[in-house]
Amino acid sequence: MTDQLRFDGRVAVVTGAGGGLGREYALLLAGRGAQVVVNDLGGSVHGDGATQRAADGVVEEITLGGGEAVANYDSVEDGEKIVQQALDQYGKVDIIVNNAGILRDRTFHKMSVDDWEAVYRVHLYGAFKTTHAAWPHLREKGYGRVIMTASSSGIYGNFGQANYGAMKLALMGLANTLAIEGAKYNIFVNTIAPIAASRMTDGLVPEPIYKAIGPERVAPLVAYLCHEQCSVSGRKFEVGANWAAEIRWQRTSGLRLPLAEKMTPEHIAEHWDSLTDFSTPDYPVSSLDAFQIVDDQVKSG
Ligand SMILES: NC(=O)c1ccc[n+]([C@@H]2O[C@H](COP(=O)([O-])OP(=O)(O)OC[C@H]3O[C@@H](n4cnc5c(N)ncnc54)[C@H](O)[C@@H]3O)[C@@H](O)[C@H]2O)c1
Repeated sequence: MTDQLRFDGRVAVVTGAGGGLGREYALLLAGRGAQVVVNDLGGSVHGDGATQRAADGVVEEITLGGGEAVANYDSVEDGEKIVQQALDQYGKVDIIVNNAGILRDRTFHKMSVDDWEAVYRVHLYGAFKTTHAAWPHLREKGYGRVIMTASSSGIYGNFGQANYGAMKLALMGLANTLAIEGAKYNIFVNTIAPIAASRMTDGLVPEPIYKAIGPERVAPLVAYLCHEQCSVSGRKFEVGANWAAEIRWQRTSGLRLPLAEKMTPEHIAEHWDSLTDFSTPDYPVSSLDAFQIVDDQVKSG
């Protein structure tokens, strides 16, 4: 059995930690020794309003349990203020869990610019601002663990969630490049797509399922990915209901024509089955893998 994974001496920022998944991450990290900045704006699930009660409640839970935490009430749109609080209070930052989120679900034809921008500003811009503010400190120390929170709605699509799905998959794109840029500084950036009972999913899943998929069943994977023992970066995981699995890209071997020939739409139509045949796939992991085929094509003429 692995020794207990501890976070003594580590400082974690968890955004949107006043409830739901973020609260569980904060409780677990603090329960294992981390000093935690519990960030939460405390607004509604649609992003209206604000209250300090959400973050205060979680800080109280942590401190009553003997842990160390401080509340932060800023919006992730002002992520630099959250990171500054970690620096002021604890002198450094080691872990960023980008978790804050809202919903503005509407079918695309009814979606307003405001619905789009509100979801953009919390999920994508907020994770950018918070991570961007922490980045120089992580680089300077040569240590960091960063989590981005995606969603199956981004990976696979979901009716009524064009704004949310777009931002969630964009976070995975952000993580892909940060993992590359962070590698030599020992900054690892991974993405999760969780499924859990929270106010976001309340009423959307049948009651017996809702009761069984508490956010505490997601937190262990997040804690592992935030630990110094975790040696992976740029990876993507689905997690929920005591299930955690990695996902990756798969590509068909595809249709290839010599460059000397002219490819036409009719070629595509004629060879559609082989272009989309996954019986002999490969699993690209970098943009070099994408470029490799093009290079082969050019070399073989
Ligand atoms: N619950 C699920 O099944 C599920 C599925 C996929 C993705 N997610 C993602 O997981 C994350 C956590 O969601 P949850 O299910 O715990 O929902 P939740 O509503 O309980 O938690 C989100 C928290 O973020 C806070 N927040 C919102 N806007 C903020 C802002 N601008 N600044 C700071 N805090 C802000 C909210 O106050 C709230 O406490 C979200 O990013 C969500 O999109 C959840």
